[in-house]
Amino acid sequence: APPRSFRLLGLPLELTDRQAGCPFAPAAKLTELSATGPVHRVTVPDGEDIWLVTGHAEARALLADPRYSSDLTRSPAAMSRLPEDVRDRLLSPKNRAGNFLSMDAPEHTRYRKLLTGQFTVRRMRQLEPRITQIVTEHLDTLIAAGPTADLVPAFALPVPSLVISELLGVDYADRATFQQRTAKLLNLDTPLEEVLEQVDALRAFMLELVTAKRAAPADDLLSGLVHADPEHPLTDDELVGMANLLLIAGHETTANMLALGTFALLEHPGQLALLRGNPALAATAVEELLRFLTIIHLGIRRTPLVAVELGGHHVEAGANVMVSAQMANLDPEQYGQPDALDVTRPRGPHLAFGHGIHQCLGQQLARVEMTIGFTELLRRLPGLRLAVPAADVPVRDDMAIYGVHSLPVTWDA
Ligand code: HEM
Repeated sequence: APPRSFRLLGLPLELTDRQAGCPFAPAAKLTELSATGPVHRVTVPDGEDIWLVTGHAEARALLADPRYSSDLTRSPAAMSRLPEDVRDRLLSPKNRAGNFLSMDAPEHTRYRKLLTGQFTVRRMRQLEPRITQIVTEHLDTLIAAGPTADLVPAFALPVPSLVISELLGVDYADRATFQQRTAKLLNLDTPLEEVLEQVDALRAFMLELVTAKRAAPADDLLSGLVHADPEHPLTDDELVGMANLLLIAGHETTANMLALGTFALLEHPGQLALLRGNPALAATAVEELLRFLTIIHLGIRRTPLVAVELGGHHVEAGANVMVSAQMANLDPEQYGQPDALDVTRPRGPHLAFGHGIHQCLGQQLARVEMTIGFTELLRRLPGLRLAVPAADVPVRDDMAIYGVHSLPVTWDA
């Protein structure tokens, strides 16, 4: 097998190898480690030393702690893992512009502020009718061609792709381009050289759009951003970086929650029956699925800028610290029966959207999409079930965002 080279995205693979036949359970190694305490010093076979946080309270505190940086370049331990030429290209000022996911305050604050107004609960509620329409149209098509379908290309991927495209002002006809490029980018087996090519291609794609919106603004988020800060207008590079972050984060994550979430419900028939019997549980079920599945399964990277104390350990400035949101979401100190999927579990804090200043900007949008998506899916497809044995559903253990590559289903026509 080719080396899984794009490690920048998270935990070393040695720690995240999923157990065959357990599509929803975390890697055995992670489970083993987190049983021994909340913070771990880990040396993986290829020599990378990292700190790994698996406790909920420790993870939460860390993600809210301003002494920790999201900027990869502040961690010599992480940087030393990248060949120099790749490092210079991947982390060039052009590629870093506007990518506020990897910035710290106060630089991060400016970009985040320009966008938070667009992603309020109220604004997302206003989008509800359009999201319902998009969901309904896809289900109509799927039902007309049924009673079998692969839920990933027929529903889970196109719905959030179309929603984020419309919101941003990306032409949905270009979806094949951005979906394929994003998938390559997030695939852990994509060689670094090719990762760089995809980054360049996605930038070129978005630059064309930014140029078009400058010339002819429309009623969309990207056009709004062009004029968002008249005193210090955003540069093309900044606009491209922001828009690509939204485009990538906006469709890959929600798509995988929809598909993996459906798979999880189908494999927990008691929970599925509860939800079918009481659609008012949808919002609670969505929170529980987020917690239970934690699709950002490779963790969230941070670097302390000064020496810190972490769970009783001394951690040097510049160290490579990984927060396993997945294990934090399964912490028995925080949740009763953490390994059980319970769609009636009272809503409480989880780390599936992160925490602190980088907490997911799109979470309200994702919640609306998932609540409508699961509700309509179950309402319109009676008797929904897998069309293949569960063991044959291909899980995305080769991707930075966990999920399923396809989900063959059938239903009562
Ligand atoms: C940040 C998860 C949907 C846009 C994050 C982070 C997580 C996350 C864990 C924090 C990363 C960190 O702290 O380093 C998810 C999940 C989603 C989802 C599980 C779906 C179920 C979306 C959607 C959008 C979006 C739909 C866009 C509309 C973003 C952005 C950030 C972010 C822009 C960076 C925020 C910042 O750095 O201030 N997301 N996300 N996400 N997410 Fe999401």
